[in-house]
Amino acid sequence: MIDNKTEEFSVVGRKVKRVDALEKVNGRAKFASDILFDRQVHCALVLAQKPHGILKSIDTSRARAIEGVEGIFTWEDVPGENQLGEAVKDMPCLVKTGDKVRYWGDVVAVVAARDRSTAEAASRAVKIEIEELKPVLTLEEALKDEVLVHQTSNIKITKRIRKGDAKGVLDNAAEIFEGEFYAHYQEHAYLEPQGVTVVPDMDYGYTVYGSMQCPYYVQGALSRVLSLPMNRIRVIQTETGGAFGGKEDVPSYVAAYAAIAAWNLKRPAQLIYSREIDLQTTSKRHPIKTLYRVCLEDKKLKAIEVKAYMDMGAYATLSPIVMFRTLVHAAGAYDIENVSVDTYGLYTNKVPAGAFRGFGSPQVLFAIESLLDEIALKKGIDPMEIRQLNTLRVGSRTATDQLLLDSVGGPETLARVKESSNWHELIEQTRQYNRNHDQKKRGVGLSHIYYGVSLGAGGQMLDKSGAHVLINRDGSVEVRIGGTEMGQGAKTVIAMIASQELGQRLEKILVHQPDTAFVPDSGPTVASRTTIYSGNAVKTACRALKEKLAGVFSGFPNRNNDLLFEDGQAIVSSGESVSFDELVECAYAKNVKLFETGWYETPKLSFDAQSGLGEAYITYSYASQVVQVEVDTLTGSTKVLKAFTAHDVGRAVNPEGVIGQIQGGFVQGMGYALYENLKLANGRILSDNFNTYIIPTVREVPEELVIDIVEEAFSEGPYGAKGIGEPSLMPVPASVANAVSMAIGKRVRQIPITPEYVLGLIED
Ligand code: MOS
Repeated sequence: MIDNKTEEFSVVGRKVKRVDALEKVNGRAKFASDILFDRQVHCALVLAQKPHGILKSIDTSRARAIEGVEGIFTWEDVPGENQLGEAVKDMPCLVKTGDKVRYWGDVVAVVAARDRSTAEAASRAVKIEIEELKPVLTLEEALKDEVLVHQTSNIKITKRIRKGDAKGVLDNAAEIFEGEFYAHYQEHAYLEPQGVTVVPDMDYGYTVYGSMQCPYYVQGALSRVLSLPMNRIRVIQTETGGAFGGKEDVPSYVAAYAAIAAWNLKRPAQLIYSREIDLQTTSKRHPIKTLYRVCLEDKKLKAIEVKAYMDMGAYATLSPIVMFRTLVHAAGAYDIENVSVDTYGLYTNKVPAGAFRGFGSPQVLFAIESLLDEIALKKGIDPMEIRQLNTLRVGSRTATDQLLLDSVGGPETLARVKESSNWHELIEQTRQYNRNHDQKKRGVGLSHIYYGVSLGAGGQMLDKSGAHVLINRDGSVEVRIGGTEMGQGAKTVIAMIASQELGQRLEKILVHQPDTAFVPDSGPTVASRTTIYSGNAVKTACRALKEKLAGVFSGFPNRNNDLLFEDGQAIVSSGESVSFDELVECAYAKNVKLFETGWYETPKLSFDAQSGLGEAYITYSYASQVVQVEVDTLTGSTKVLKAFTAHDVGRAVNPEGVIGQIQGGFVQGMGYALYENLKLANGRILSDNFNTYIIPTVREVPEELVIDIVEEAFSEGPYGAKGIGEPSLMPVPASVANAVSMAIGKRVRQIPITPEYVLGLIED
């Protein structure tokens, strides 16, 4: 599957119309709350609303008496395992009386009623009694282990890397550079809140329709909670209005609550979260505190030591795989001989942290990139030069000692932003501006990152995907994959790959909503893996179909090389052609099988968890970014003026989609860096809607956002493609923080860089 990156294709790499654009614009697209069934009940949740305590009693009598209430369900009504959690199963579905509540959003009961407002009113009428315990609210308190969130230590998960002798080198170094950094929560702020409908179906099981990234996770969770075999749980993803990691494990929980109502009532049950409940109870990006020690030898990074403390909240759920990414990315995109990293996942009595675009890496990339700039400044080295000297390149070894042999675009992304931003001139102009202005100060910041594509050694058993492709008698094509569209453009990429391989026109290809009844477990739609995994599976299935079609011509040998399939035509080498549709008709007349499956799984990675050494991921994407900001030194507020970003994606299957991802990721990363500040009091989230949790709007988007795509083909990827979903966000916090640091002449050590924080630094 080695494709030359300079090869031109008829569909791949071209500008096409997004396949799901029309229905999303004209309103025909079905999102979770557009699903409606006869006799459907609407659900609401009864939450603990205490950070830590023992659940003493649940009194539903007053709520049951409310007209329109159809049922109220507690732990006693759970038919199967009362247990949730995707990677770590440490979370109750409904808290049992006598057991602990561990955060404000723990669910105690599910109310079902004829409409949503009745359900919500009744949920408020359920009386629960909780004997409060002292909560663990900070990383420092968690580390003390005086109050325990679970039965054993609050330090639940640890991972490490020991490459070379970082400690020895640092302890003996003449000069070392140290830094402590903190990155706060980030909320996904998807447009569509969590929502599902669970329906008793004609296969005597349950069909789930919902907004989600991972239908197979939902299928597994409901099978356990309802105690039914997996063939009685069918999950169909509805159109999903954004996810960003926030719909990775969470929909399994949302679906479980609704399923308990559906099972007990034998009626369709719908649960749609309000924005407040969604913000209060669902996962966020992990807050991470990091301590760094670094030393240099002749401008080269010689040794690095990192300790990262991750706030997992009340339940660990996905934290182990998030942490694997924190571990591998903590030393940045650099070739360093001596690396020591320790990561700690700590329980606290707060909202469980989980998956979020970048998955544990933006926090540490912000830290290493900030420290690197600080070192460059102190040593009088150009920040561009220090990165160019140290970046990973072909032949380098990563922090985990993985030898990089192909598709290493880091040096090129650095070269591109150096050129597009006019690096040296931009800095000079900015200094000039600052000499002439007092209140407004400008700064330029650079960042450079790498990203391990897919789940890697931290989750190899999930790294696979299936596909099913069927050609109908009229030549129209049906594609079924296990990966989900959540707005990122997966359906368009998949349709393009099918169109490229079959030669059928793009308009005649339909990519179905994922349905567990048709495609086997394809792992989760996460980790920027869908183009590679579902893409390769579809490619395989389509190649087999093309083989079949080629064989249909009598007089032609069964070799598709003699036939060119393009733009709805099959063209013979002599120049004759037949339309794709006619060829299919002919195949049907001859009873030729026109459906095929495809499967892609990762080659086995060799990794030693004890030392943290080995092949961490199948490949890496790279990015470099320069931003210019303006800080108002009176108000402390920051605006990004310009941004130049370059991304090595292996191959842009859909360049328009790649650009869209980079634009969106940039804005989301900018929000994380500057504006989004989740406020909590006693474990309760105070900023629980977008009037208090401030995300960027179109007004904050920099006027100049220059995007460069680098294509260093990845030999295993379809047409050379790697991933872009998450790397689009990852360089942003670091570049913005470095730019603000230059503007104010003080080092930024936390995100978000709020006006209050900036003013504090200036006054210091
Ligand atoms: Mo993602 S943050 O890998 O869903």
